[in-house]
Amino acid sequence: MQIHVLGSAAGGGFPQWNCNCHNCAGFRNGSLNAQARTQSSLAISEDGEHWILINASPDIRAQLAAFPAMQPGRSLRDTGINAILLMDSQVDHTTGLLSLREGLPIDVWCTRQVHDDLSAGFPLFAMLRHWNGGLNWRAIDASEQQAFTIPCAPSIELTAIPLLSNAPPYSPRRDNPHPGDNIGLFLRDRRTGTTVLYAPGLGQPDERIRNWMARADILLVDGTVWHDDEMIRQEVGSKTGQAMGHLAQAGPGGMIELLDSLTASRKILIHINNTNPILDQDSPERAELERHGIEVAWDGMHLDLSEAP
Ligand code: MLT
Ligand code: MN
Ligand code: ZN
Repeated sequence: MQIHVLGSAAGGGFPQWNCNCHNCAGFRNGSLNAQARTQSSLAISEDGEHWILINASPDIRAQLAAFPAMQPGRSLRDTGINAILLMDSQVDHTTGLLSLREGLPIDVWCTRQVHDDLSAGFPLFAMLRHWNGGLNWRAIDASEQQAFTIPCAPSIELTAIPLLSNAPPYSPRRDNPHPGDNIGLFLRDRRTGTTVLYAPGLGQPDERIRNWMARADILLVDGTVWHDDEMIRQEVGSKTGQAMGHLAQAGPGGMIELLDSLTASRKILIHINNTNPILDQDSPERAELERHGIEVAWDGMHLDLSEAP
């Protein structure tokens, strides 16, 4: 199994177009030791040729251009994307579907809740039908927690796990999320036995997701905010991490403490908000992560998991 991080930032990316917070301004004026990051997306593959796009971000065009495997050039019109899987119906995970219209139809795997949002408040399924048949919905039932496979990658078992996070601001279930509004993904390579848990929107780590996390060799988990109230402290917004469905890293009950209790060989934070001090590679917060053996995902990070762990 190959995993390629196309975008490691949260909604807005880094720097965010309209933001002059400490990080965004510092990046622009060169005073911050940090890398730019695009919005949340992964690509996974069994053979390095056929890819499953996990989330379709607004930055998809630049992300595909930055990863040559996504354009194998086998025919006049071609793509390395064979299927798409959505973790939720958030704007930063779905808007890129609009940019893929020239290459439709394509299979899109998501839960009923996500399909509902993308048929009503943000009706991508209805709208894109007019482009060569559009998006073929392939239903994921997160309540089953049973492994399934996607045809282009038969050796990669996927299990969707319902997460306690939040539905997007435009959803009728905002602040009243239902199982299926957000999922985590447990991946297992049948050939090597390697397991990965991916959960970019993890608000409350309940017993269920903790058990899945405990089984994973590699964790790619919610790295949105350091402090729950960091957007308020920095006066760029009024929402807490919890309100958006994200568990902060710092403090008691935070992500660092949770990761400390787990034995995964790699612990990687992903979906980093532009206000998060860990984006500054020279920050004390980044040094703290290093002391805990926690990595920060970056655009272009590639995990070659073709050998057994
Ligand atoms: C989130 O992950 O909470 C959302 O992507 C925030 C947003 O809509 O920008
Ligand atoms: Mn997001
Ligand atoms: Zn900012």
